[in-house]
Amino acid sequence: MYNSAIKEKISCLDLKGQHQQIKSEVFEAFDKVYESTSFSGGTFVQEFETEFAQFCKVKYAVGVNNGTSALHLTMLALGIGPGDEVIVPANTFIATAWGVSYTGAKPVFVDCTSDTWEIDASQIKNKITANTKAVIGVHLYGQPFDIESVAKVCKEHGLFLIEDAAQAHGALYKGTPVGGFGEMACFSFYPGKNLGACGEGGGITTNNETYYTHLLSLRNHGCTVRYFHDEVGFNMRMGGLEGASLNVKLKYLPQWNSRRQEIAGKYQEGIKNSKIKMQVQPEWSKSVYHLFVITTEDKTGLTEYLSEKGIIPGLHYPVPCHLQKAYTHLGYKVGDFPNAEYLSNHCLSLPMYAELTDDDVAYVVNVLNAY
Ligand SMILES: Cc1ncc(COP(=O)(O)O)c(C=O)c1O
Repeated sequence: MYNSAIKEKISCLDLKGQHQQIKSEVFEAFDKVYESTSFSGGTFVQEFETEFAQFCKVKYAVGVNNGTSALHLTMLALGIGPGDEVIVPANTFIATAWGVSYTGAKPVFVDCTSDTWEIDASQIKNKITANTKAVIGVHLYGQPFDIESVAKVCKEHGLFLIEDAAQAHGALYKGTPVGGFGEMACFSFYPGKNLGACGEGGGITTNNETYYTHLLSLRNHGCTVRYFHDEVGFNMRMGGLEGASLNVKLKYLPQWNSRRQEIAGKYQEGIKNSKIKMQVQPEWSKSVYHLFVITTEDKTGLTEYLSEKGIIPGLHYPVPCHLQKAYTHLGYKVGDFPNAEYLSNHCLSLPMYAELTDDDVAYVVNVLNAY
């Protein structure tokens, strides 16, 4: 199935192949939503919540309109607000920090390690103040962060632990799926994710009933009984069409993740070029390779070379969070987080999605080895 010829252009991500395969099934599901007019929340979203909670081996899942809202509501459910601080890795997609900022709290950034590129647990202590309430660890590029080390610091200092699992649906930490290690975990179902809706989507998983019931209310205008509003809430419900598409796609996720792992294995074994470095995979982590990021000294040179060969790499991410213009007021400067800054200046993302053929992958490997 994965052995056909090399594509004309191999992009970092291409969603068309996947959606052609499942189109009729998704359209059948859309038809059911249409017939029942369950367009906002409703049975299809509930069905997805039940299935996704089981997939993550947790008690509860709450579907919302996107992953950024998941992070926002998680902060609110913890009671985080103005005057509070939340520790966030500098090397992540900016939305990890947005949820903190939306509440009026302050994101406090911390560097990543130089090899796994995940939050550096040993640096967290230096960032804790009397105002620190929580740490958000990110399972970046699909690979679980060092959960036990981060959880230990949180326990010692009485901090909440939140997982940003937006890129890691189905990733395993010591054999257990991510999503149940902290107070709550946040997922994105943006179309490009390993599990992506046909539209925008997000979700929160938790084993805590109090957070669960609060999240149900927060996403739905702060009410549990219609037209009675207990607090200022939000309209962050998941749409029925999105829920229905996720129900179809969740069934395929294990096979899509295995294919990503297979491709990653081919890259790891096949690319033998001292000019290219890869993310170190600790033995306790089983990544689902949302992205396959490499670093190289001459990012521009390699990008041009790859483009000439028809390979279009991605960039995740070109500017670390602490140096984003939006956070100028926090007073960070170049040099504050050398590992995150090195990554942003030297990273490229190789093509990574389940529908790449073996020939595509072999071609990428050969091109990189000839560089
Ligand atoms: C690490 C991380 N956190 C949060 C998000 C936000 O998710 P969304 O785009 O669904 O709002 C994303 C996805 O883009 C992400 O990659």
